[in-house]
Amino acid sequence: MKKLTALLLALVMVFALAACGEEPAAESTAPGAEESAAPAESEAPAESEEPAANPYEGMSLEEIIPDLDFAIDGMLTVGTSPDFAPYEFYAIIDGEPQLAGFDMSLAQYIADALGVELNVVPMDFNGIIGELMTGNIDLGIAGFSPDPTREDSADFSDTYYLGGQSFVIRAADAEKYTSYEDFDGLSVGAQLGSIQYDLAMENTPNANIMGLTKVTDIIAELVSGHLEGAFIETAVAESYVKQYPELMIAWDVEYDAEGSCVAVQDGDAAWLAAVNIIINECVDSGTMDEFIAEANTLAEGEQAEWTAEGGLAG
Ligand code: ARG
Repeated sequence: MKKLTALLLALVMVFALAACGEEPAAESTAPGAEESAAPAESEAPAESEEPAANPYEGMSLEEIIPDLDFAIDGMLTVGTSPDFAPYEFYAIIDGEPQLAGFDMSLAQYIADALGVELNVVPMDFNGIIGELMTGNIDLGIAGFSPDPTREDSADFSDTYYLGGQSFVIRAADAEKYTSYEDFDGLSVGAQLGSIQYDLAMENTPNANIMGLTKVTDIIAELVSGHLEGAFIETAVAESYVKQYPELMIAWDVEYDAEGSCVAVQDGDAAWLAAVNIIINECVDSGTMDEFIAEANTLAEGEQAEWTAEGGLAG
């Protein structure tokens, strides 16, 4: 794995540049595109806002599956960052730490729909897109916002959850901190590689912005007083505020690219189409709502802490 990673790292740039050429099946010559009901790119209706029509659109899952390139045969390999209850976290179930959360239920649902085993790889959030680009994982499922600044490195599925953004402080400071200007010169946290980090730069440009790899560490630093405030996804903020009553959500943070999506390798039309079919089925059937309710209940219980190398503490 290590040597492969090193080799692939060296190729990242070449790969990124060649991505479109590397995926002829997905990009331009989807097998059966001419004979199938899928509209050819040139015939795509002009009203479409998409940069290019997906040649797999209109195809059934069964028709798309043979064109899916799996990182590991017979498995759906998913990268996630389990520091993000109720999306993904380690719940203590029957005394054992287990990966849980509605993203993990969705991952299992996708694997089942594809008829393969699920293989979840925990990693830091800011490493997921890189692993996607090198093809080490098939999908990134980690509460990804469809951030337009990531458009060149990944594609994003339809939305499966609609959340928001929050600014979190210690409850004891409620009177002290009432606007972003109050944080000038103070330490404000956000997860590295996340849209929350950009929100911090935008909203608290004069603060001392601390980028941490894990949201759980941001929570710990807030509780211990090393951070004065933090930008956190609302569902996650609500979940951790329940666990740590010494914290509170101070106010909502505005953000345009709403919702959570699955990250797919850039330009991989087959994966994008397949994932969209499965996600829409999951959402429309109400199954996603069940996953969310279940995850919220689990997140209220005991959780295990995930440490740097993907291992579990204590
Ligand atoms: N929605 C944010 C983003 O896409 C944060 C996601 C963080 N996910 C996580 N599992 N820590 O940047």
